[in-house]
Amino acid sequence: MVFLLFDRATGWRETDWFARWMLGKGIARTEQEWQAGYLSLDLGLESLPLTYKLPSGDDIPTVALGTWKASSEDVGAAVKAALEAGYRHIDGAWVYGNEAAIGQALKEVEHHVPRESLFITSKLWNTFHNPDDVEATLDETLAHLQTNYLDLYLMHWPIAQTADFKVDWELTENPIRTWKKMEEMVRKGKVRNIGVSNFNIRRLQNLTASDITIRPAVNQVELSYWNPQPELVSWSKDNGILLEAYSPLGSDVLVGKTLRLPPVRKIAKKLKITPAQVIMSWHVQRGTVVLPKSVDGGRISENYQTDLFNELEAAATAHRPHRINDPSSHWGIDIFEDDKEDDFH
Ligand SMILES: NC(=O)c1ccc[n+]([C@@H]2O[C@H](COP(=O)([O-])OP(=O)(O)OC[C@H]3O[C@@H](n4cnc5c(N)ncnc54)[C@H](OP(=O)(O)O)[C@@H]3O)[C@@H](O)[C@H]2O)c1
Repeated sequence: MVFLLFDRATGWRETDWFARWMLGKGIARTEQEWQAGYLSLDLGLESLPLTYKLPSGDDIPTVALGTWKASSEDVGAAVKAALEAGYRHIDGAWVYGNEAAIGQALKEVEHHVPRESLFITSKLWNTFHNPDDVEATLDETLAHLQTNYLDLYLMHWPIAQTADFKVDWELTENPIRTWKKMEEMVRKGKVRNIGVSNFNIRRLQNLTASDITIRPAVNQVELSYWNPQPELVSWSKDNGILLEAYSPLGSDVLVGKTLRLPPVRKIAKKLKITPAQVIMSWHVQRGTVVLPKSVDGGRISENYQTDLFNELEAAATAHRPHRINDPSSHWGIDIFEDDKEDDFH
């Protein structure tokens, strides 16, 4: 049997050393246990993080349910299916026009999925960049979502428009006044983290060179096989700005083509996962959040493969810990002062 491990330095590689090591240490005691214990590792999911840390200290889940083009009729069921599958991160926006339906669905399940366990994102639409308009549109979003705070509020586009959709060139080129108002929303407790969306490097450099108090924590941009933007990925890492991959599957226009790509199909076959799961893994391995949109329960669950990781985490933490390297008794001192299973065979 061939096992695949993901190593950040070298990428995917075939290995059986870990299997031999587990057997040698007696950690896997029977062939069946060995195989079962290997299920998650076989899929190479052990290296995928479930959350990233934001500068505020908040954890942001690596996979979110996208909600663009999900109708108000469909989005409630999609949100509930996502929560059932394990998602805790919902990506929305004022302009999607479905926040009230999302809020209603969240309200209906709040007894078993409390607000504090969720990470909710919304976005400031272009026609509300005027500082006098920011708080009112945010309040509308909060009312629709039936919550008193957002985990993340993004400037949706680096474009300020007037109410009659004309570009406000001054506020577009210099969004500092809009950003300052977003900072104020953090101070007021209405938003926990702020960021931008669709910003290129020049626009981010421009914003961060201004007199700002809070740096953008996140930049949500289009990232897919078709538009992988390696320079932006690398620059964002160097500058401590977390990227979120929107249209990760190529959106509704290219999703079919994406899932039929020969390299995607080859990897899916090799790893025994679906093409959509290959795409999600790829994004998280690039260090970005991934925002797949679906209104189909099966596809929503398929896109959230991290439950396999959770299974291994749950199994590993369900038994008393067994420390492999503990010279305490040899040296006559309890070095680690922790719980350990002494009768492990
Ligand atoms: N900040 C921005 O300007 C911006 C722009 C675009 C998107 N976004 C965010 O990013 C999210 C995702 O982007 P997106 O909606 O453009 O596109 P996407 O997630 O790349 O693709 C969505 C399409 O793929 C289908 N799909 C989903 N999972 C599938 C699977 N496992 N197998 C086959 N088909 C599957 C969906 O259909 P079904 O629903 O029928 O499953 C839908 O047609 C948005 O919903 C939104 O939250 C943000």
